[in-house]
Amino acid sequence: MACAAYSEVVIAMNDELVPKDLTRKYSQKEILEIEKKYLAPAVGHYYEDPVLFVDGEGAVLKDSTGKEYIDLFAGICTTITGYNHPKYVSTIQWQAERLVYTSSLYSTIPYAVLVKRLAEIAPKGLTRSFIVNSGSEANEAAIAMVCKYTRNPYIIACQRAYHGRTTLARELSSAGWRTFPEAHPPGVRFTPYGYCYRCPFGREHPGCDIECAHYLREVIRTQTNKAVAAFIAEPIQGVGGIVQPPIEYFRIVHEIVKEYNGIYISDEVQTGFGRTGGKWWGIQHTGVEPDIITMAKGFGSGIPIGGFISRPEIAADYTVTDAFATFGGNPLSCAAAVAVIEIIKEENYLEKATKLGAVLKKKMEDLKDDHKIVGEVRGQGMMLGVELVRDRTTKEPATQEILTVMEVCREKGLLIGKGGLDNNVIRLQPPLELSSEQVDQACTILDEAFTEAEKDL
Ligand SMILES: Cc1ncc(COP(=O)(O)O)c(C=O)c1O
Repeated sequence: MACAAYSEVVIAMNDELVPKDLTRKYSQKEILEIEKKYLAPAVGHYYEDPVLFVDGEGAVLKDSTGKEYIDLFAGICTTITGYNHPKYVSTIQWQAERLVYTSSLYSTIPYAVLVKRLAEIAPKGLTRSFIVNSGSEANEAAIAMVCKYTRNPYIIACQRAYHGRTTLARELSSAGWRTFPEAHPPGVRFTPYGYCYRCPFGREHPGCDIECAHYLREVIRTQTNKAVAAFIAEPIQGVGGIVQPPIEYFRIVHEIVKEYNGIYISDEVQTGFGRTGGKWWGIQHTGVEPDIITMAKGFGSGIPIGGFISRPEIAADYTVTDAFATFGGNPLSCAAAVAVIEIIKEENYLEKATKLGAVLKKKMEDLKDDHKIVGEVRGQGMMLGVELVRDRTTKEPATQEILTVMEVCREKGLLIGKGGLDNNVIRLQPPLELSSEQVDQACTILDEAFTEAEKDL
């Protein structure tokens, strides 16, 4: 399997200056032993026999034995520019040689350049950014700002959503990701999301009047003081299993949120930076103009960074006495994020995500014709989901069988993700640096994996 785009890696590391512990050759077994002894069990790996990655190029990762894998999951929907893109590596190297860190108590060029660039690519009216380190933190900060602005504690999130693992972000996330007893704080309310394959109202689209969207009015009227601080939703739920509501869902909920003076937050941690194809942000496909966008993952393409961009009037009163992050806006992360935005433009990723995403989706739909285990194919651009079921009539989730699919793929050199409340949805969220040959190879492997997983059905 050839690496797609970059035959030379620009960085020439001087091994002499790197800690020996990092550069010496480890076996996968040795690393697993260290992890077992010293890592908290909060860290868990995919696969019965976890992979040890040491290198990457384009959309391909290489393990410690030299075996190559086409990566259709980008870590977790993160390495949007692929691995070791020359401009990305050079930018990080250049910045590291000058200034890795000082705090935002001082001005730095990368932070200023980044927020200017964000305003250029953001939807109309969003101009003020605050940079933190992750998606959870971005959502926390946006919610705190909105509660201060509206003087209202009520936040409405969507069922099956995932917004992170810090305390508030966890509260905004759906039950499946709340794994030990915790009470929701008084202000958080949930409303249905548009999940047509498993409609909570038992309706069928079209012809359902998008009941799931209208239900928001009922939630607000019966569970708040008839006013909301914010509604937060992903344009396509990622961890929730690549669930994409009918497009009207967003227009309807936006109208209701505005009727009750709420702020619309679009969580674009997964859908941002061109992943959905053709546009920078997933919400731009719906016609809704959000008040705030939160972002992370592809934002730094692997370097930790998150943040929000907001309408200026909402951000005006959220000041340094309300917010601070030691690492937020650090020069190294910001420089990397500037490079990511530039690479997305130069490599035409928005267009590529549309075109190659459509090819990948069509191939998945063809596989659905051949494999009864495939219940539904959904999503758009480079954010696709394949829901696996044991039976197409009962739609019983194929929670066990998906593990077989993943194992077969791993063995044959393909990485995929999984999600959904029942962990039965294949998530295809590759680097946008992917070739059509890699798409072909990946689909051949998935075909074989489905055949294997179906054997016991
Ligand atoms: C939509 C969404 N929001 C927020 C988060 C949290 O991001 P992080 O893991 O960087 O805190 C995630 C992570 O998967 C996510 O998918």
